[in-house]
Amino acid sequence: MKLAVVGGGSTYTPELIDGFARLRDTLPIEELVLVDPAADRLELVSGLARRIFAKQDHAGKITTTTDIDAGVADADAVLLQLRVGGQAARNQDETWPLECGCVGQETTGAGGLAKALRTVPVVLDIAERVRRTNPDAWIIDFTNPVGIVTRALLQAGHKAVGLCNVAIGFQRKFARLLEVEPGQVHLDHVGLNHLSWELGVRLGGPDGENVLPKLLAEHGDAIADDLRMPRKLVDRLGVVPSYYLRYFYAHDEVVKELGTKPSRAAEVAAMEKELLEMYGDPALDEKPELLAKRGGAFYSEAAVDLAASLLGDGGSPVQVVNTYNNGTLPFLPDDAVIEVQARVGRDGATPLAVPALDPLYAGLIANVTAYEDLALEAALRGGRDRVFKALLAHPLIGQYDYAEGLTDRLIAHNREHLAWA
Ligand code: G6P
Ligand code: MN
Repeated sequence: MKLAVVGGGSTYTPELIDGFARLRDTLPIEELVLVDPAADRLELVSGLARRIFAKQDHAGKITTTTDIDAGVADADAVLLQLRVGGQAARNQDETWPLECGCVGQETTGAGGLAKALRTVPVVLDIAERVRRTNPDAWIIDFTNPVGIVTRALLQAGHKAVGLCNVAIGFQRKFARLLEVEPGQVHLDHVGLNHLSWELGVRLGGPDGENVLPKLLAEHGDAIADDLRMPRKLVDRLGVVPSYYLRYFYAHDEVVKELGTKPSRAAEVAAMEKELLEMYGDPALDEKPELLAKRGGAFYSEAAVDLAASLLGDGGSPVQVVNTYNNGTLPFLPDDAVIEVQARVGRDGATPLAVPALDPLYAGLIANVTAYEDLALEAALRGGRDRVFKALLAHPLIGQYDYAEGLTDRLIAHNREHLAWA
């Protein structure tokens, strides 16, 4: 089995390699190609990657290339984990929306739209190259904003599934609190990427007992603290929102907070510098502790599970992924991309049925789906007006003068990445 990782020079890659090494029985990789435009990063990251494989007696071959076509040729699956414009562009996304009193975040609100506009054309170009060399290859998309990027890929007819680590993070955390194996924990996970709720936590599978009320009664403080939301809110909802919901439920509080500290991009850039120095040390042969300070915990395990199910039958039969709605949430168009539990196999992902949703969640999901629709239009076709409409439709923006100010800033800060601007 050959896998290609586009964005393989990311400082996150050792996390992925560590998972590939530990879970080699689930996903037997013979060749792994790290593809990245940054040759210097590739060298540092692949050096450590090879040492991690060697230490764990993994016989898989790790190669590198800056040439996408060469890298994806004959790959059975291609993982996309790229960041157009790097942390510098992310820093902008997290900063200029604050000037308009709006949240500055890389996947939510105006910053998320900027990221979508930069990213969709690049990802579609890569996917086209993948299809040209191997039309059977699966594309696993970790590239944010995952919902919009996955929708772009599916609309263009690619074999793609979108993936995020939020659900697997909750699964692992709840398993620890419940003192059971993670595989025993099934989440009733519903929503969109970075806009999801755990409506139930079941033991043993989709039909198992819902232990969420018990979990909240016994560990409510720890769960709420982790989300940085008040315990009272979590108790009143009776469900567990993802931490990205804090940008909605506590928008103004977050804006104030962000105004008083360096951006997450600045923090990450400093960590990346340190990480790359570590990766250059020939004595290092495991993922360093510092990586745990990044947001990507468990993403390797989610990737292994998904790839194993798409390429064979080694993975879990049911996983939380991003795929077409196809009637699962009846208030959304069929071609909206949702993030839910799905049956996953060689033919792709098919969502499990979801019971009727409380309007408290359905309303926000519908609103953000409408925004994502307009955001994709703007990413595919460009133009100031399309950017403005997507921003006006976003529930965190909504007002005309905010949308105007944000549109001007988005275009000014991203001109070099937008072919039409
Ligand atoms: C979580 C999200 C990812 C996001 C990451 C950011 O893992 O699910 O989509 O990219 O956090 O983490 P960072 O360490 O870069 O802030
Ligand atoms: Mn994510």
